[in-house]
Amino acid sequence: MIRLRVGIPSETRPGERRVALSPEGVASLVAVGFQVAVQADAGHRAFYTDEEYRHAGAEIVPEPGAVCGEADIVLRVLGPSDTDSPTEVCRFKPGTTLVSFLAPVSNPRTVKALADGEVTAFSMDLVPRITRAQRMDALSAMSTIAGYKAALLAASRLPKFYPLLMTAAGTIPPARVLIIGAGVAGLQAIATCRRLGAVVEAFDVRPAVKEQVESLGAKFVAMDIVTDDAQDASGYAKEVSGDTHSKELDLIGNRMAKNDVVITTALIPGRPAPKLITRDMVRRMPPGSVIVDLAAMNGGNCEATVPGQEVVVDDVLIAGPLDLLSDMAHDASRMYSKNIVEFLLNLAPEGNMKLDLEDPILRDTLVTHQGKVVHEPTRLALQREGQS
Ligand code: NAI
Repeated sequence: MIRLRVGIPSETRPGERRVALSPEGVASLVAVGFQVAVQADAGHRAFYTDEEYRHAGAEIVPEPGAVCGEADIVLRVLGPSDTDSPTEVCRFKPGTTLVSFLAPVSNPRTVKALADGEVTAFSMDLVPRITRAQRMDALSAMSTIAGYKAALLAASRLPKFYPLLMTAAGTIPPARVLIIGAGVAGLQAIATCRRLGAVVEAFDVRPAVKEQVESLGAKFVAMDIVTDDAQDASGYAKEVSGDTHSKELDLIGNRMAKNDVVITTALIPGRPAPKLITRDMVRRMPPGSVIVDLAAMNGGNCEATVPGQEVVVDDVLIAGPLDLLSDMAHDASRMYSKNIVEFLLNLAPEGNMKLDLEDPILRDTLVTHQGKVVHEPTRLALQREGQS
């Protein structure tokens, strides 16, 4: 029997410290019959050693070209993108399968190059949020990390304690935190702030999350603005406009004046981040307050956010972090590795490739196949660029 060869190259994006497969992930793939080749030092920045990979059954390959060039399946965290050099795509031999985050609509030219190179590409950011795909849901895993780290970042920048402290030097009141958007990242931010003793309130346009927010010990604010209308059939939020948007801004502005920390995570899939905090609203916060804008990579929920930087506006620190996941490279890689192993075992059960396009997980994540771009939104993006 021919054993499929899986290649794990080092990540190439500047500042990226995660790796696609942990030694534990290697062991699970080897156990079902895959061969695994890991580029030397690929796990170094996530604190996994070559020795651990070797022990798990991987071959360590010094030459990066050989890892991708000789693999049947390449697993990466971040796939090549339109801002990379074209050589990133040339690394794959025709017929290779690539599984990684690809953000295909934002990188249509790369997707086209992958199709032209006869690479079959799956994008982990397209895994549907359905029950059977939960263990492959890498976006949720990464959002859990981002929510946790955002809460810690805010705590470390705030010149106040999170918990109520009763000391000989007096009683210190707990910090007050507002979380905007109670999806995966928001709920983890709530849980982390609560564990540290802050008083937390949260707001989301979807009424369905009220119960989850309350079960974590936070208060859900402003039920009067949210309606069942606020979400689509698949449970995602719809864009808020007109009168409801101004009511939302009023509500958030009023709550900001009473909170020391705001963590914003509001997202509408496939859209720029909704602007929910204006500069004027920032000025209403107490001096020394902190805003962590997790939506920075999509343009930010706050008007004053500078992606990748911390800025101070009228004594309020606004952070737009982009590298929270690399800051947690060890566990982020461990979680991603679990997700991608599950994905691969679904794509190639017992080590045999079986591309079943009736399977909604494979159908939704498939981006290129047999020389074609098969992901419709990416095809439309290419048409807009005049490249289809
Ligand atoms: P999610 O889709 O699970 O949650 C987003 C929430 O925002 C939803 O509950 C939605 O109802 C809510 N929302 C949408 N519009 C709203 C509005 N106008 N007002 C209030 N709430 C609104 O998304 P997830 O996975 O929690 O991600 C949240 C954010 O974190 C995203 O912007 C994502 O890009 C970002 N993120 C950032 C990372 C980083 O390293 N900086 C890593 C992972 C995620």
